Parts: sequence; structure tokens; C-alpha cells
Amino acid sequence: MNTVEKVIIKNFEGVYEPAEDSWLMVNHLPFFKGSVLEIGCGSGIISINLAKRGNQVTAVDINPKAIEATKINSTKNNVELEIIEGNMFSKLKNRKFDTIVCNPPYLPPTDRYNDPELSLAVEGGATGTEFTLKLLKEANNFLQKNGSIYIIQSSRMSEFKTEWSEEIIRQEKYFFERLSLVRFFAR
Ligand SMILES: C[S@@+](CC[C@H](N)C(=O)[O-])C[C@H]1O[C@@H](n2cnc3c(N)ncnc32)[C@H](O)[C@@H]1O
Repeated sequence: MNTVEKVIIKNFEGVYEPAEDSWLMVNHLPFFKGSVLEIGCGSGIISINLAKRGNQVTAVDINPKAIEATKINSTKNNVELEIIEGNMFSKLKNRKFDTIVCNPPYLPPTDRYNDPELSLAVEGGATGTEFTLKLLKEANNFLQKNGSIYIIQSSRMSEFKTEWSEEIIRQEKYFFERLSLVRFFAR
């Protein structure tokens, strides 16, 4: 078990274990309050932290084991989340949120992972960017006017451009990559 800012997370087989990218988001997301959608909640670490700060949080993951883990971890931490099993925005028709957060799968394909749930958690498409680009393309339909999207990016992804304005909130260097927490917002 890991304890971060009074949040207790139990790890489950087949569910992404919180790592540097998860902590980057938990520790450096700016303060905001309102409705938040997390795409790809994994163990629930980020959603639970945001709920503890007083946000109304909807946590989505495509992996049923992550959904189960988030349910158990939110109960352990005495927070209420709306927890939805689904593919990105597919179960959220006509919903809008003040903020969207995502620590996405961002690596190009690798044969290092022969575990399908781990591949789903870390591999973001042919150049590592495809998942993030899809999210940023569709997010406009689910974001309130003046809302922000916070996403983790890695130096191992290819460069990409979008219609959104960008602001780097925090960068951290590791031996094998540089991770950034980036805010996307409407111009
Ligand atoms: C890098 S992990 C992040 C987990 C957790 N938020 C954290 O930071 O520790 C990415 C998560 O995205 C989920 N995921 C992958 N593809 C998805 C999709 N199409 N829709 C929703 N979730 C997805 C994976 O199952 C995984 O739990």
C-alpha cells in the first residue's frame, strides 16, 4: 500500500500501479473546484485526491479491473466518486465538466509488455500520441466553456500540434524520459 497526502491506495493485479506520472499529476495539479472528469482512472489515485479537495469527480476507465480498484480505493478513502466503465467519452453523452484530467497511455508500442492490461495502460498508439490526440479532439464536446484539460505528456511521444492553447504546468526529468503536466484550454 502507498500513502500519498493521506490517500491510501491498494494495488491490484491488472491495474496500473501509481508511478512518477501519477504523482506528477497528484502533486502539481493547480487548485480548482467543480466538476471533474478523469479519463483512465486506473487505481483511482488522481480521482480520489481531487475528490478530497472538494471536487465532484467522475472517473472513467475501459479496464473493468481498474473500475473495481477505483471502487474499493474510493471506499477505503471515504470519498464518493461516480465510477464508469467505458471507452473514453463513450458513456458520457450530453455531459459537460469544468475540468478534464488524464494521465494517458503515451508510449509507442513496445514488446516489453506481454500483459494486455499493462499495454492498454501505457501504449498510446503508433507514435504514442494517438490516444491523447483523440481525447483532445473529442474533449470540446464534454468541457464547459472556459474549462481546462490537464494531461501528462512524455518526451517519448512524437511532437504534435492541436487547436488548443497550451501551458506547461510542471516538467520533471528522469533517466529515460521527461514528463510534463500540460494544461490545454480554448484560445
Ligand atoms: C497510465 S494509466 C493511468 C492510471 C491512473 N490514472 C494513474 O495515474 O495512476 C492509463 C489508464 O487509462 C486506461 N485506458 C486506456 N485506454 C482507455 C480508454 N480508451 N478509455 C478509458 N480508459 C482507458 C487504462 O486502463 C489505464 O488505467
